[in-house]
Amino acid sequence: MQATKKRSPLTVIILAAGKGTRMKSALPKVMHKIAGRPMIAHVLATAISLKPEKIITVLAPGMESVEETVLALHEDTQIVIQEEQLGTGHAVRCAEVQLKGFDGNLLILYGDTPLLQRDILQFMLKQLEVKKQPGLVVLGMRPDDPGHYGRMVVNEKGGLERIVEYVDATASEKKIRLCNSGVIAARAKPLFSLLAKMKNNNAKGEYYITDIVPAARSVGISCTYAEAPAHNLAGVNSREQLAKAEHIMQDRLRRHAMAEGVTLVEPESVHLSYDTRFGRDVVIQPNVFFAPSVRVGSNVEIRSFCHLAGASIGDHTVIGPFARLRPGAEVESGARIGNFVEIKQANIGKDARINHLSYIGDATVGKNANVGAGTITCNYDGRKKHRTVIGEGAFIGSNTALVAPVTIGKHATVGAGSTITDDVEDNALALTRPLMVKKKGWVKKGSEKKK
Ligand code: UD1
Ligand code: MG
Repeated sequence: MQATKKRSPLTVIILAAGKGTRMKSALPKVMHKIAGRPMIAHVLATAISLKPEKIITVLAPGMESVEETVLALHEDTQIVIQEEQLGTGHAVRCAEVQLKGFDGNLLILYGDTPLLQRDILQFMLKQLEVKKQPGLVVLGMRPDDPGHYGRMVVNEKGGLERIVEYVDATASEKKIRLCNSGVIAARAKPLFSLLAKMKNNNAKGEYYITDIVPAARSVGISCTYAEAPAHNLAGVNSREQLAKAEHIMQDRLRRHAMAEGVTLVEPESVHLSYDTRFGRDVVIQPNVFFAPSVRVGSNVEIRSFCHLAGASIGDHTVIGPFARLRPGAEVESGARIGNFVEIKQANIGKDARINHLSYIGDATVGKNANVGAGTITCNYDGRKKHRTVIGEGAFIGSNTALVAPVTIGKHATVGAGSTITDDVEDNALALTRPLMVKKKGWVKKGSEKKK
């Protein structure tokens, strides 16, 4: 039997210390979200999927929110602070302190390239392992509009000669269509020794990681490149590029949902999150927004203009049109949530119906209960939140205020227009409205008096 070659240890370095000036934002650039998730978390998730020995993220001082996001996703990530943002080459050098004696492979990723996919990275790492191995592989792309990406200069043998930044490029170099995505796979040891000698004599006065290519070639290390579709490698430096990246991600998520058995009647108008999960035979009408953490079962219809966040939706349910499910909404199988209904932190039992104009918050609604139009759970007393429990099979008449904490018993009925401030026993009728007054012929008598 042939012995399988042991994979070299891998460290992933994610650069995220850049100022992000072009975003014009108080938020660090990599915290801007794509499909409901910060860009840095997308990149980190891809890094984790490669199962590296180590992940190092380079941040600037004061980026606590980024650090929190990174550690929440992967607590073993090592954080390195780049005190001054002197360029991508300098940022990689900052990671060296965590890599004393490390003699494996390095993968350098940018925190502002959130659409990156795992397969191409695995391919690049394999290229480092083949016989007559190159010492360095850069990932390139050919976008329709090369814009301000760095341009990759390739020789006739297909070797990578150098990368020239847009601001430093000549007119003819700007015409090159092969662009640098920023991803580099390299052997760690030679890379760090070359970085130590790097200069910053360029238009921006920065230490560019891209200068590693000619530096490596000059000491006989061969450099090559891989290519991936530009829509997986878009870099985000501005709000416009953020919107473009979101567009690409949405397209990816919608295709995936459809491939898994979801009908999107008008795909372009449905906004998904990175973690939206669907069962089979879900039909989604136009204009529905899925914020993060929504789970949808099978045979579900979500009608137009719903906003869903942190909700779990059971099988055979119908939601909307115009429903809002907020975090903690759990709708069990067969239930109906109709128009202008808002649900928060509430469990809606099997086959229960809340069809119109209601707010149900901090509540449990039993199975088969019917909650009439205009029912409000008054869950907040100005200081604290309180729970409402509606028993199974209960009937809540229209325009009812349920002042929590309050329990409506099983199969109880609440008369329309009531304000319920005390518990109602099973099978009881409760109503608080004043009795109706009727006076026969009252209108006629009044008009006779006037005469
Ligand atoms: C960079 C590349 C360019 C490439 C493009 C792809 C360089 C010099 N240029 O340009 O060739 O086409 O990405 O999207 O690498 N960062 C730090 N510390 C710094 C500077 C940057 O950590 O001192 C981080 C940023 O947070 C960002 C990444 O490095 O995640 C790239 O920096 P950015 O300023 O966005 O470079 P680009 O101009 O996009
Ligand atoms: Mg960038």
